[in-house]
Amino acid sequence: MSLTRRAMLGALGGLAVGGTVASVVGTGIAAAPENASPAKTGRFEQVGGDFGWKPHKLDARVCAPVAYDGYWHKGYACGYGTFYGIIGMLGEQYGAPYNQFPFTMLEANKGGISDWGTICGALYGAVAAFALFWPRKERNAMVDELFRWYEKTKLPIYNPGDAAKGVKGEIPSNASESVLCHISVARWCYEHKKENGSKERSERCGRITADVTTKAIEIINAKIDAGESWKGAYPKQESVAYCGECHSKGKDADIQKGNMDCTPCHGGSEHVQNKFKDHP
Ligand code: HEC
Ligand code: HEC
Repeated sequence: MSLTRRAMLGALGGLAVGGTVASVVGTGIAAAPENASPAKTGRFEQVGGDFGWKPHKLDARVCAPVAYDGYWHKGYACGYGTFYGIIGMLGEQYGAPYNQFPFTMLEANKGGISDWGTICGALYGAVAAFALFWPRKERNAMVDELFRWYEKTKLPIYNPGDAAKGVKGEIPSNASESVLCHISVARWCYEHKKENGSKERSERCGRITADVTTKAIEIINAKIDAGESWKGAYPKQESVAYCGECHSKGKDADIQKGNMDCTPCHGGSEHVQNKFKDHP
């Protein structure tokens, strides 16, 4: 049996070969793996195929404390914590490809993406994990379930006990009614008279990271069991159903986008009226 050059390259693996070529040529720039050139595979075709990783069930009782620790690890925070609690734990149990992921990528989600207060990073970490396995058509129901649960549930629930890294003991909870970091944090601070900059607020978000991981794993495990037919338990929010009668795709006033609960921003609460005038 004689190994052809191509078979050799295949056996060595694309990335290693890329490195060899680059070092031989001495450009210092890592060459693209030969088998990844668009001419050979077609542009946008990725190694392993689209949504090509295989999901495995996880034990939330094992993963939630890891997600919580991930939140505190070097301050990498919520998105990192949730993602590590899911994909990092698959890596610890199954090795590659899960353990090859550059987990720090998820650190960008801290504070609703680099402290901008947009989507709660813990939620994004979970959705990013879903998207390694399931395409939009299947994933959307998983996201709906996770996000509706997050809007409605009094969080945090998780209590690390003596393993607490910020503040020990009970932390007050409330329903955020929003998936946005800004609203979620601000409502909690206002309702419980806490500062955003307080240790207790960080502790709250660390615990929510564990809660979101637990819920996400529950969804992943159920999805693995049920396959394509999996459906969530939470119905569409009342406001989204009602406002959506006119403000959704194909309806009379199709001028907005999104499935967030409309109430916090369009419910007429005194808190979202004009604060640029006559404000303490
Ligand atoms: C029966 C249909 C209908 C329902 C239900 C409805 N809207 Fe509208 N809405 C309209 C129409 C029509 C307009 C005008 C659109 C335009 O100007 O292009 C409008 C305009 C708006 C506007 C922009 C103008 C303004 O008044 O500020 C907002 C914001 C809005 N709707 C929010 C909502 C929210 C939130 C809900 C749910 C509580 C809702 N709408 C429910 C039909 C509806
Ligand atoms: C996080 C806050 C937030 C949420 C949640 C939200 N909106 Fe809005 N929405 C806004 C803001 C801010 C604008 C821009 C208002 C402006 O133009 O002054 C807007 C604009 C709109 C507009 C266009 C009219 C306009 O005034 O610009 C419609 C219609 C609308 N929203 C409907 C909805 C519906 C229906 C939902 C729920 C499915 C929803 N919104 C959820 C904050 C929100």
